[in-house]
Formats: sequence, C-alpha cells, structure tokens
Amino acid sequence: MTGLNRRFRPKGRNWPLIWSYVIECGGSTKTTSVTSMAVIAALRGYRSVVFDLDSNMSSSLVLGYDKTALKGKKTSLDLIYGTATLDEVALPARYRIGEGYDDDAFAFIPNLRVVPSSPAMAGADTAIAEDPDRNDWFAEILHAYEGDDTVFHMDFPASYGRMPYSVLRMMDEDDFVIPSIKADPKDVRLVQGLIEELERVRDKNRNRRSVPGRPTLNHMLLTGTPTRTYKEAAARRAAQQAEALYGSILLPYIRYSADAKKLYEDECPLPVLLPNSNPSVDYRKVMTHLGFTELAA
Ligand SMILES: Nc1ncnc2c1ncn2[C@@H]1O[C@H](COP(=O)(O)OP(=O)(O)OP(=O)(O)O)[C@@H](O)[C@H]1O
Ligand SMILES: [Mg+2]
Repeated sequence: MTGLNRRFRPKGRNWPLIWSYVIECGGSTKTTSVTSMAVIAALRGYRSVVFDLDSNMSSSLVLGYDKTALKGKKTSLDLIYGTATLDEVALPARYRIGEGYDDDAFAFIPNLRVVPSSPAMAGADTAIAEDPDRNDWFAEILHAYEGDDTVFHMDFPASYGRMPYSVLRMMDEDDFVIPSIKADPKDVRLVQGLIEELERVRDKNRNRRSVPGRPTLNHMLLTGTPTRTYKEAAARRAAQQAEALYGSILLPYIRYSADAKKLYEDECPLPVLLPNSNPSVDYRKVMTHLGFTELAA
C-alpha cells in the first residue's frame, strides 16, 4: 500500500472509502452513476471495486459480464454466504468490442474490478435472516482487506432490506452515501425515506463498538437535468426542489441525454461509450470536484 494517499484510509483503517449509491427508487440512475464514476476514476489512475449487489445484474453487464460470461463464476452471493473471498469473486472490468466470449471480444479497463451479481441475489435478505452471522459478511471483507483500492463503489437494489443494512452499518462519516436520483419530483420525495433509513441504522448501532454505524447522507447526484434542448417543466421543478432541500450536498448536475440508455444495449459504461455526451462530461466534473484528478503515470 506504499504511496497510497492516506485520505483513502480514514482513521487509519485498512479498507477503502465506501461509496453507497442507495435509494429506494427503481430506475433512479444508481447504476449509471456507479459505473460512470468508477470508470472515470479508474481511467484517471485510481484503483477501485464495484460491488454489484442487485439481482438485476446491471452493473455486472455494463462492466463486461452478462449471464453467459458468469456461468460457473462466483458472485456477490458467495460473499454473503462466506463461500468465497473478495479476490476470488472480483473480475477485471471490461467492455465489449466484438462478438463472442473470448478475451479478444473485450477491452479491459485498468484499475477497476467488479464483483458480479446473480439473479439469486434476490434472496440475499432472506439468506441473512436465516443466519444472523451473515450480517457480518461485509465487515469480514473489510477486516480481511489488504489491497490498495481507493473506493468500494456499492450498487444496491431499490430497497432497504437486511443486505443494504449489512453494508450501511459499516459506514463512517468519511464514507459517502450518494443517492443518485433523476430530476423528477417523485425521486426527490423519496430522499426523505433514505434519511429515515440512515437514522434507523445509526440508532441501532449507536452503542456498538465493533461497527462504525454512521452512514451519513453527504452527497447527492441529480441526473437528467434540463439542457438547452431538454426543457421538461417537471425536471426544472425537481431541480428547484432538490436545491431547496438538499442544496448543501448536491454535486454538480448530470445533464439529460437520451443516448444514456445505450449503455445497456452496448454493454459499455457511458464515459467509454459516449465520452463527449453531456452526462459523461458532467460525471468527469463530479469526480474532479471530489478530488479524483488525473494521477501522474
Ligand atoms: N443523464 C441521463 N439522462 C437520461 N437518462 C439517463 C441518464 N442517466 C441514466 N439514464 C437512464 O435512466 C435509466 C435508469 O438508469 P439506471 O439503470 O442507472 O438506474 P438504477 O437506479 O440503477 O435502476 P434499477 O433500480 O433498475 O437498478 C436507464 O435507462 C439509463 O440509461
Ligand atoms: Mg441499478
């Protein structure tokens, strides 16, 4: 871990920053934000891991692994059951540049690994309920960690169950809770539920010494914001509401782009697929704002 800036190991701990892109809101742009921010950091020289914890496997797909590619591979569910280590599960992130599944059908993204998900992750909450020891799956990974990653990017399903709880309780104030929401009044309204959920996690862990238990809503991404050509009144209204309620934690806006949908068709992260699109420009601005400037080679 020589040369790794200490800001990536707050309070001298041995594990990376934890960034949880979480909100109980389907299709709110969590996965687009997770994959874009992690890829931009990786291309600028920062090592990190994306944990795909959603049974829809979206970030696995965008980072190069569909169901066929994952046949026989370990997944995030193995981490929850404790049947594999992080290094056994994490795969090099890549994106499709050709047909088939040989290595030459993909370009590899340096500095980035993905913990792939599986459809069976839909049962993660139940698996934890069946055996309370499994609540510690993420704590075990952190305590055993010895690498030099800067950030663990956590992509969650759109619900607050036992699995998200097992991650959120391991977060400290230095870590980020970053809801990524669309500029839509409905999405803005759902942030209050996240605030209540975080409060519940903090309350439950207040007197525990073995877990940090301090997930803190300290950043927010607003996506699909109006542009010169995209002038939805609802999007403008949502941006005003977000500014009024959460102005102090709002990151630079991620503007609307109809092309953003292509990332799933093309199995490729947005900053690679459409590097000059408005959202890619804006995600780069966000990462610069967060201090992830280009590292000297
Ligand atoms: N800046 C943007 N402008 C317009 N559309 C966008 C933008 N960013 C993402 N989208 C689109 O919004 C949709 C939902 O995005 P995404 O899959 O990232 O959300 P999610 O919160 O991860 O969803 P889920 O709850 O299903 O996991 C996708 O079709 C995506 O392409
Ligand atoms: Mg998603």
